[in-house]
Amino acid sequence: MADSVVDIRSARKVFQGRRGSKPVVAVDCLTLEIPHGEILGLLGPNGAGKSTAVRMISGLVTPTAGRIFIEEYDVVRQRAKALSRIGVVLDRGRTLYPRMTPRENMEYFGVMRGLPDIARLRARAREWLELFSIEDVADKPINDLSMGTRQKVALAAALAAEPRVVLLDEPTLGLDVQSSVELRKAIRRMAHEEGCTVIITTHQMDVAQEVCDRVCILSEGRVLALDTVRRLLDVFASRAYTMTLAGALTDEIRMALACVGKVRVTEEWADGDGEGNAGYTVIDIDVPDESGLFKAMEVLSLAGIGVESVTRREPCLEAVFLRLTAKESVRLHEPLCGMG
Ligand SMILES: Nc1ncnc2c1ncn2[C@@H]1O[C@H](COP(=O)(O)OP(=O)(O)O)[C@@H](O)[C@H]1O
Ligand SMILES: [Mg+2]
Repeated sequence: MADSVVDIRSARKVFQGRRGSKPVVAVDCLTLEIPHGEILGLLGPNGAGKSTAVRMISGLVTPTAGRIFIEEYDVVRQRAKALSRIGVVLDRGRTLYPRMTPRENMEYFGVMRGLPDIARLRARAREWLELFSIEDVADKPINDLSMGTRQKVALAAALAAEPRVVLLDEPTLGLDVQSSVELRKAIRRMAHEEGCTVIITTHQMDVAQEVCDRVCILSEGRVLALDTVRRLLDVFASRAYTMTLAGALTDEIRMALACVGKVRVTEEWADGDGEGNAGYTVIDIDVPDESGLFKAMEVLSLAGIGVESVTRREPCLEAVFLRLTAKESVRLHEPLCGMG
């Protein structure tokens, strides 16, 4: 892609284990082109390789193989140039100087990055402080601020230096609801209004669904899926159903259904009207393909359980993620790859 801002070509990272233990392939065959202004989510369970990927892109970890470019600069061979385009927020703002204020931190980091125009830097810092609604704490020491506020200061400090690319590793982790909402808004704004390219790792699927344009789902260092959030949801839309059943599920029926798809009981009235009538059960069932729904109906019919209603469930990224990463689910042989 000619206009990609971040270009990752077959990146691989192997950590040598300690004496006696096997090497760990943290990231393997990661190829990604991220265009201007896109918010790309790196998703995956713990240990999937998300942080390693971010650390490779930000030059903190050297790839074992493959190459990574920021604009036209190789992160390893033209490190200084590449890194001058990047703003990184790792480890929830622990990189800030705790005794300095947000304003001092922002100016300090800007100067460290070699921004020549102090007046402009100050103006940008003020803008981001306002945007994140933290101007009232701009002159208090970082030590006195909440985790959420620190996270915003760390982001603002990265942004004041006008990076082309912003890397965020689990930015909403440990934030209260309000801070998390504001942070998500800020992330969208910096990408869609300021034109920053954003790479964000998270294991919170609701965050990814709301914030990301495109997601890359990793598991054990490999890409399981790479596509727009919209398309991933569409692909899985036809396979997620909610069924209302007239009757209770025995363990045997549950087991038979579990062979057909992933089943979750969401509501259960063992004794419908309290007068000994059969109860109701509402289940969510995710099936691997179109025939799954019919197989589920067959299981229920054989068990003598009536199906009162079937509705297609609005898909969510969480369900897509669970299906793709579940060990027991049918593994996709090829990653789901989209063009956009
Ligand atoms: N510095 C390191 N040395 C050895 N192994 C590491 C190191 N960093 C990460 N790993 C291993 O690499 C794998 C991926 O880790 P990580 O990138 O932190 O995953 P995630 O951020 O998705 O949880 C894990 O198995 C982890 O134990
Ligand atoms: Mg991590």
